Amino acid sequence: MAVKVPDIKTPLPGKQARKVVAKDRRYTSSSYIKEYPLVIARGKGAMVEDVDGNRFLDFMAGIAVNITGYSHPKVVRAVKKQAEKFFHICSTDFYYESFSNLAERLVKMWPGEAERSVFFTNSGAEAIETAIKLVRYHTKRPYIISFLGSFHGRTMGALSLTASKAKQRLHFSSFLPGVHHVPYGYCYRCPYHLTYDSCGIYCADAIEKVVCQTLMSPREIAAIFVEPIQGEGGYILPPPEFHQKLKAFAEKNGIIYVVDEVQSGMGRTGKFLAIENYGVEPDVVVLAKGLASGLPLGAVISKKKFMTWKAGTHGSTFGGNPLACEASLVTLELLEKGLMANAARMGRRLLNKLKKLKKEFPMIGDVRGLGLMIGVEFVRDRETKEPAVKEVHEIAQQAFHKGLLLLPCGDSVIRFCPPLIVNAREVDTAVAIFADVIKSVQKEGRPI
Ligand SMILES: Cc1ncc(COP(=O)(O)O)c(C=O)c1O
Repeated sequence: MAVKVPDIKTPLPGKQARKVVAKDRRYTSSSYIKEYPLVIARGKGAMVEDVDGNRFLDFMAGIAVNITGYSHPKVVRAVKKQAEKFFHICSTDFYYESFSNLAERLVKMWPGEAERSVFFTNSGAEAIETAIKLVRYHTKRPYIISFLGSFHGRTMGALSLTASKAKQRLHFSSFLPGVHHVPYGYCYRCPYHLTYDSCGIYCADAIEKVVCQTLMSPREIAAIFVEPIQGEGGYILPPPEFHQKLKAFAEKNGIIYVVDEVQSGMGRTGKFLAIENYGVEPDVVVLAKGLASGLPLGAVISKKKFMTWKAGTHGSTFGGNPLACEASLVTLELLEKGLMANAARMGRRLLNKLKKLKKEFPMIGDVRGLGLMIGVEFVRDRETKEPAVKEVHEIAQQAFHKGLLLLPCGDSVIRFCPPLIVNAREVDTAVAIFADVIKSVQKEGRPI
């Protein structure tokens, strides 16, 4: 895997890949999405090789997970070393060093003075479940505010907060009672048809001005669950004042401000937490995805004053698995020793280049992002902003065939969430392929 450029040698999927896809279709759940037929054999850095020897440049990182790239040697070494000692003991009942070391490290990574404690899980959804139980337990209040367009996971509690795509909720009700969804700060498609900043950031005031006047007292709201930047909803950056206003409202009313950093955290935006870009100190932070460079690990980091639950009220057999904790400790070290700075630097380069593409291609309605969390929103018409839904899926498909791994999100957004180790050459290659693909999709489609 020494070659650093995409290299597609066979029609896709190739012969070996077709066999795997066929078996997968026969034996696995019909709920899996499978964006395109990528059958990975191995990866190195930001490159992925499939079972037929085709090489791809990965700008989706297994959905924003592989932040240190594929098989970073330091992560591999740490996991191997731990594997030779023990795989499991159960953190709920016993102790091991990496578990408490990681908790200490995470508490110290998050700027601010408040004392904090950590609960470890296996996934983002399990971490959200944990946070839901935590805020209910502590406040004894019945209501939770979440946002339209948000994605917090697919288990029943997390799904009750999720409002990203209706099909993700279809036939799964009843949901958790007491969850109320409000519009997010999505300036490109303002839910109130207002314009920043003459809007006065109404989206952040709506909870107080509408929900708390008509539906519930703020004194009955346990928590606001919010993604600092909406991920699955379309890589949406809210206006700069959004989180500050919401947090001020939360603080005034004893409401716990829970930020879901599962997709946006772990240095992706150039800071450890995306919320740091908004100058807000949250009460509870939820992490997963990149936390252990691809090993399953989630974490709920809470101000200690809210983690008041008693021994036995919550637990997890596998949460904070020793292999994952070791991988995570190395991941955090790599973030501090350069990857976060690289995400900021490469993110600026990528954003500038994508913004230039917007001038060239009328299909691009909006380009937005922070660090290496960038969304390109496609429209059929810049005036009506009709989402170019089919075209976006075509772009992801064609990029795959040209050796670039991308993933859509929202209605018609291509997300760029590469490993944080990408270099300038890889960024330039990705943009060149992306431009080529847009050109071809624009030509194939009706005139725009
Ligand atoms: C913001 C956010 N929260 C929670 C989750 C759920 O995480 P998991 O798939 O690990 O359960 C996701 C997954 O995409 C996410 O993006």
